[in-house]
Order: sequence, then structure tokens, then C-alpha cells
Amino acid sequence: MSCILVTGASGGIGAAVARRFAAAGNRVAVHYGSNRAGAQETLASLDGTGHALVSGDLADPDGAASIVASALQQLGSLDVLVANAAVAPSPENRHVIGESTYAEWSTVFRQMVDVNLLGTANLAWAVASHLIERSAPGAIVNVGSRGAFRGEPEFPAYAASKAGLHALGQSLAVALAPHSISVTSVAPGFVATPRQLEKLESDQGDALRAQSPFGRVGTPEEIAEAVFWLASPEAAWSSGSILDANGASYLRS
Ligand SMILES: NC(=O)c1ccc[n+]([C@@H]2O[C@H](COP(=O)([O-])OP(=O)(O)OC[C@H]3O[C@@H](n4cnc5c(N)ncnc54)[C@H](OP(=O)(O)O)[C@@H]3O)[C@@H](O)[C@H]2O)c1
Repeated sequence: MSCILVTGASGGIGAAVARRFAAAGNRVAVHYGSNRAGAQETLASLDGTGHALVSGDLADPDGAASIVASALQQLGSLDVLVANAAVAPSPENRHVIGESTYAEWSTVFRQMVDVNLLGTANLAWAVASHLIERSAPGAIVNVGSRGAFRGEPEFPAYAASKAGLHALGQSLAVALAPHSISVTSVAPGFVATPRQLEKLESDQGDALRAQSPFGRVGTPEEIAEAVFWLASPEAAWSSGSILDANGASYLRS
């Protein structure tokens, strides 16, 4: 039995990840930003007992530190961090160069980098420090994105923050290997999470499904399975890697 902190588990991929770890007999700290009801729903859906609910704003360095402190207080220790929370693309934060005002552009860049990259770096610091102090092995799995490689012309800050996240994982993999802590990333393509359903049901749906030669988009459970494996001791030798989980919709060289 291990203890896992999953950020952004109020729905979507994070909720599926929390369920996957709980189904394997682990205890999970379910983190949310503002959607308490969603996180409570995730918590109620978990197999087993001894799970916890944790909130905190990842845009704030103190928030990231208090998320880890609260998870530790409730679970007693942590073995795995799944850094899944992110400010994801939405109509409200679309920012196209040549169309957006400077204020819109710089505001969205700040929000996305603060949460997706800096928030995750702060979580990693706190969890790695705890593991090192305990002399315990562990794993950090970051949820990145295909967009880091393929580009996101309507959401360049998102792609840049995820590319930074992948690079952060690689640096940390080298720095933390001597402590028996593995650090990996998964880079999903389009996934049918609740926030994406409207798009999938719209006239864009067929084009989104056609991105993959499988003729469909991914499921949260498929990403959760990849995360679960990356966090396992058996995947320690894959530390430093970025696993594409995009149904062959984008092949990078
Ligand atoms: N779905 C896709 O197609 C897709 C594709 C590639 C990569 N991804 C990545 O997969 C991950 C999950 O995506 P999803 O579709 O499941 O997204 P989602 O449902 O929008 O989940 C995002 C989570 O991040 C949390 N969050 C956002 N801002 C936060 C902040 N400032 N502080 C703390 N928590 C914050 C949200 O918490 P609250 O709701 O509680 O505020 C929510 O739980 C993200 O990293 C995303 O970039 C998704």
C-alpha cells in the first residue's frame, strides 16, 4: 500500500487517476482547486478507505506547499505525486498572437506558467524533500501534453508551460535518481474529459476523432493506466521519459 497525491482530481483525468490508484489498494489524497463538490464525488467513488481531500491554489507557492503539508498530515506519508492539475485551454483563455491584446496575452501566460509549470515545480520540491528525508523511494508523474510538441497556435502559453513541464521532469529525473525517485511525464493527446465533451459533440467532433488513426479520442482511464504504470517500481528504469498517449495522432522524432 502506497500513499499518492493526485492534483486536479475534482474530475477528468485526475479523478480517473485517483480511482486507478485506489483500485490497486493505495490511499489517495484527492486535490482540487475550487471544485469541492467534484473532488468529494471523486473521493466517494474511490475503492478502499483512508483517503483524503486536499485543496489549494497552485498559482501560489504557499498554496503548493500547503497542499503537500495537508496530504502528509492526513495520510501520514507520501510515496507518489501525480501532478495533473493545470489551467487548460478554454474559450476564456484563448490568446492568439496578432489578435489578443498585450494585457490578455501577458495575463494568460502568467496564469498558465504559474500553475502548470511553477506550481508543479513547487509540489515536486515538497514531495521530493519529504521522500529524501524519509530515505524512501518514490515517483513523480507529471501530466504534460501533446501540445508541447505539436504546437498550440491558439494557446501558446499552454504548450510552452507543458514543454517546460516535460523539461522539468527530465532535469528532476537526473537529480532525484540517486535518491531512488523516478520522474516521468505522460503527454496525452485529445482526451474525452467532461470539459471537452461539448467540443466532441459539436461540428468539430469528427475532426478531433480523425486526428488519430484509431478514429477516436482517448479516455481518462487510458491516461490513468499510463500514469499508474509510470509510478510503479517496475517503471523506475523509464525515469526521465515522456510517454506519448495520443493514439498515434502525433509522432515526434
Ligand atoms: N483533456 C485533454 O484533452 C487533455 C489533453 C492533454 C493534456 N491534458 C492534461 O491533463 C490534465 C487534466 O486535464 P482534464 O481535461 O482532466 O482537465 P480539468 O478537468 O480541467 O482538470 C484540471 C484540474 O486542475 C485543477 N486546477 C486548475 N487550476 C488550478 C489552480 N490554480 N490550483 C489548483 N488546481 C487547479 C482544477 O481544479 P478545480 O476544478 O477544482 O478548480 C481541475 O481539478 C491537465 O494537466 C491537462 O493539461 C488534458
